[in-house]
Amino acid sequence: MPAETFFPGKFCLTRENPARPWRKTWKSVFKSDKPWFKHLFSPMNFNFETPPERRGTDSQKWQKYAGRDILPLWVADMDFAAPPAVVQALQERVAHGIFGYARPIRSQIESVTAMLATRHGWTIEPEWIVWLPGLVVGLNVCAQAAAAPGDEILCLTPVYPPFMSAPKNTGRHPVSVPFVLDARNQRWEIDWDGLERAVTPRTKAFFLCSPHNPLARVFTRAELERIGEFCLRHDLVLCSDEIHCDLILDPSLRHIPTGTLASEIARRTITLMAPSKTYNVPGLGCALAIIPNPELRRRFVQATTGIVAEVNLLGYVACEAAFRHGEPWRQALLTRLRANRDEVLAWVKRDLPGIRIEAPIEATYLAWMKVKDLGLADPIGHFEAHGVGLSEGRFFGALPGEYVRLNFGCTLTTLQEALLRMKRALSAR
Ligand SMILES: Cc1ncc(COP(=O)(O)O)c(C=O)c1O
Repeated sequence: MPAETFFPGKFCLTRENPARPWRKTWKSVFKSDKPWFKHLFSPMNFNFETPPERRGTDSQKWQKYAGRDILPLWVADMDFAAPPAVVQALQERVAHGIFGYARPIRSQIESVTAMLATRHGWTIEPEWIVWLPGLVVGLNVCAQAAAAPGDEILCLTPVYPPFMSAPKNTGRHPVSVPFVLDARNQRWEIDWDGLERAVTPRTKAFFLCSPHNPLARVFTRAELERIGEFCLRHDLVLCSDEIHCDLILDPSLRHIPTGTLASEIARRTITLMAPSKTYNVPGLGCALAIIPNPELRRRFVQATTGIVAEVNLLGYVACEAAFRHGEPWRQALLTRLRANRDEVLAWVKRDLPGIRIEAPIEATYLAWMKVKDLGLADPIGHFEAHGVGLSEGRFFGALPGEYVRLNFGCTLTTLQEALLRMKRALSAR
């Protein structure tokens, strides 16, 4: 497809016509054989142990406990600097000095299509992409595009809270079907009968979190196909939030994009993705909806009109650099996260009696911990009083006092100190 098709007029910046003043520098950077260039891309040089200090910065995660000795292991961002290639690309773009309204250029779009094809075996057309300033925005837009006020939207709980709040924000009703723990096989299972019982004539959409936050599950092809078949049979739009898809910790598992299932399922699917979780750039506000069906895409775009902000131009730059050049860093990150996950599991088993992680952490950097047996009326308050800030399970749909979520996307030193404090918190009950 010629670039003009999706970059009309002045936005037509082709490879042959690189009308980006910073692009020359960019090109020369990625062709450089200078030692510092090799440093940027050498896995040996990725630093996950002594990242920049976040206290006193704009970090939401750290500001929450400013002035208090509480280690924040709550909101899902990581305490690591973004890949050096991303930082370098941003510095070059900032040096250009003009920050007008932005549109994605061809190379940025191609970075997405190429990444999906090579990493996930998913071939998409560029026009299927709708850029968004965030995934939560995408969930809210999905609610409006897929259902009318008063309609119902299904989700599987526990789940990332906006899955339930997005429908409510726009006068739709979230209907949650709890996962069932198969304790013998240590596996969270979808309650298929419960799903069938939950459907009514007013059910219009299914919000899926794949891989799952907070259960850290990677769904199998059989499960995804069954969800797709369920949506087909009940004529539901399938909104698939795949923000954690490049954070698979179990090397024997693969993320299967919902959009790669049978074409009749893909036609009713809105896939939400972003570089934000994997490359730790959520503050740059860049996400995408991928919608193969033109009519569904039209409805989605219509729901964004006049409300959803433009994507920050730095978000496009970070996205391209991450997808094109972030793979060695991502691999090094996965090694760090696997070690952190193992550390959490070891501490829970050895030093945190009464806390349980009931199923393997297959993906994400989030641990869903059962704290019910501790008998604490306010587990979050108790752990905060002992210097650790966790996420409240209740907001994900769990019963009060039953679960907390721990974010292990931090340095090993921070993690070990937090786990030690949790141990002390248990002794002090
Ligand atoms: C499943 C899921 N979707 C969306 C988001 C947030 O996305 P954004 O920051 O782009 O709104 C998160 C953040 O933790 C998440 O876990």
